[in-house]
Amino acid sequence: MNIIIMGAPGSGKGTQAAIICKTHSIPHVSTGDLLRKNIADGTELGKQAKAYMNAGQLVPDELVIALLQNRIAEEDCKNGFLLDGFPRNKAQAEVLDKTVKIDIALYLETDLNKLAARAAGRRVCPKCGYSTSADKAPDGKCAECGENLIIRDDDKLEVVQNRLKVYAQNTAPLIDYYQAKGVLKTVDGMQTIEAVNAAIEEALK
Ligand code: AP5
Ligand code: MG
Repeated sequence: MNIIIMGAPGSGKGTQAAIICKTHSIPHVSTGDLLRKNIADGTELGKQAKAYMNAGQLVPDELVIALLQNRIAEEDCKNGFLLDGFPRNKAQAEVLDKTVKIDIALYLETDLNKLAARAAGRRVCPKCGYSTSADKAPDGKCAECGENLIIRDDDKLEVVQNRLKVYAQNTAPLIDYYQAKGVLKTVDGMQTIEAVNAAIEEALK
């Protein structure tokens, strides 16, 4: 099954994607994570993407589309995958349509006014990519590998606000796009992590 998970910055896409992918044994393809890995590895793509990401802007389509197409062409994606953070605008959605069939687009519906606080509380592992909230990691250590957790560069308040604006302008219209295709499933993303996951599993049945 090819799944997209959609929602505003901080809506819980990465959190839910990790659980879904474990449950269904499919790869988690996050363009944000792939871009951050390129930045950490100092690649040419990472150098080009960094300024856009740190400003809360979209990375240009030609860079992200090539990155995504290369990733989903890999062997582990042959039997299905979950896309997190792609597509983010109509041009990306149209390219995706020409590349693969999307079976379900899960939309995490959230109260945009409450998301800046979630992003501010997020802590991520620079080594293995694990993500959690500060209150769940009082020792500041990664629960998976023990590394010191850090705050993502684009989780500063003014950058989060910009990401929310970019989302409203570019990405939110895709909700109607997938609704029109008959594959949209909306889930209330303001519940607990466990309740959101239960609703997702119901939608995937
Ligand atoms: P990306 O990494 O995709 O970031 P994003 O969409 O802004 O989303 P986030 O990762 O911030 O939030 P999330 O929904 O994954 O929430 P999470 O689960 O972490 O993109 C980053 C940048 O890369 C973009 O700005 C852009 O520059 C670039 N980029 C990426 N893809 C691109 C593309 N296709 N085209 C162009 N540019 C692209 O949860 C957030 C926090 O809330 C965590 O602390 C978590 O523990 C907590 N939380 C989660 N669920 C709940 C819950 N139910 N209740 C309470 N707390 C919760
Ligand atoms: Mg994420």
